[in-house]
Amino acid sequence: MKTPYLEISHIGIEFTTEGEPFRALQDVDLSIDKGQFVSLIGHSGCGKSTVLNIIAGLYEASEGGVILEGREVDKPGPDRAVVFQNHALLPWLTVYQNVELAVKRVFRKTKNKAEMHEWIEHNLSLVHMDHALHKLPGEISGGMKQRVGIARCLAMQPKVLLMDEPFGALDALTRAHLQDSLMEIQTSLGNTVIMITHDVDEAVLLSDRIVMMTNGPAATIGEILDVKLPRPRNRLALAEDADFIHYRQQVLEFLYDKQKNPQIEKKPTDAARKLQEVACKPASSHDDAAVDTGKTTTGTDKTRAA
Ligand SMILES: Nc1ncnc2c1ncn2[C@@H]1O[C@H](COP(=O)(O)OP(=O)(O)OP(=O)(O)O)[C@@H](O)[C@H]1O
Ligand SMILES: [Mg+2]
Repeated sequence: MKTPYLEISHIGIEFTTEGEPFRALQDVDLSIDKGQFVSLIGHSGCGKSTVLNIIAGLYEASEGGVILEGREVDKPGPDRAVVFQNHALLPWLTVYQNVELAVKRVFRKTKNKAEMHEWIEHNLSLVHMDHALHKLPGEISGGMKQRVGIARCLAMQPKVLLMDEPFGALDALTRAHLQDSLMEIQTSLGNTVIMITHDVDEAVLLSDRIVMMTNGPAATIGEILDVKLPRPRNRLALAEDADFIHYRQQVLEFLYDKQKNPQIEKKPTDAARKLQEVACKPASSHDDAAVDTGKTTTGTDKTRAA
């Protein structure tokens, strides 16, 4: 039997919040082939970023483990590059220098200075940023910063590219451009990608498989959808394609029918308790209380959605 390229094996994680245990993930089991584009989708707070952080080696699973090309993941490494929602560029370095930093880290023993220079420019041209090499992050737009973040990760030639809502902070047009660039790059380089998204169309357009997560606590994989649309994919042609619409419908049904009510945590956090108190107060006192709830943290989201 073929061994999977990336094996996420029965992972679970328990956090301690305010001295109490909180089980975020339970028995998440997934095998990914080399070159596959996999999306993770699920309601806010279900545990998508936690899965990604475990694969990245930033969080340690309480149970189970991750094996990449036969080796267990136990710490972060350049073989798993992460693109965050808000590009994490160093503001005092230029576009070129931000990519250079990653390239030097990975290739200092295998590429000479001229080769590194060529490689940095090549990766920035893949994301159409070769015209702004010497600009600082503060001098370019949000979409451009995100392009640089992607170039920096591609330049590391990671085994797996991990993307946590990479286009979430962008306007619809920039987002569409970047999705198209990512599809082109992935087709030509054959990267293995795991991308978190809240956008159903984005998931169907880009993915070979869509992994749909159940609501937490103790979130796990609910369903996996194989997206067998031929590549290259064209967003305009797909908008009226019966298969595309069918895939989209299946994800929507999972999210808004099968998983429509995120569960309330058994032990509500202080923030959640505060919200419940607010909900029980007479209408006249709601305005003051609303200011409070705006400041609350993650646990609140669940209560609000429920
Ligand atoms: N370091 C941590 N300590 C305690 N609890 C955590 C920690 N990281 C995540 N959690 C909890 O685990 C659950 C899953 O969080 P996670 O960030 O993975 O959700 P998500 O699906 O990525 O949500 P979103 O779509 O809003 O980004 C949440 O209830 C969160 O509060
Ligand atoms: Mg997240």
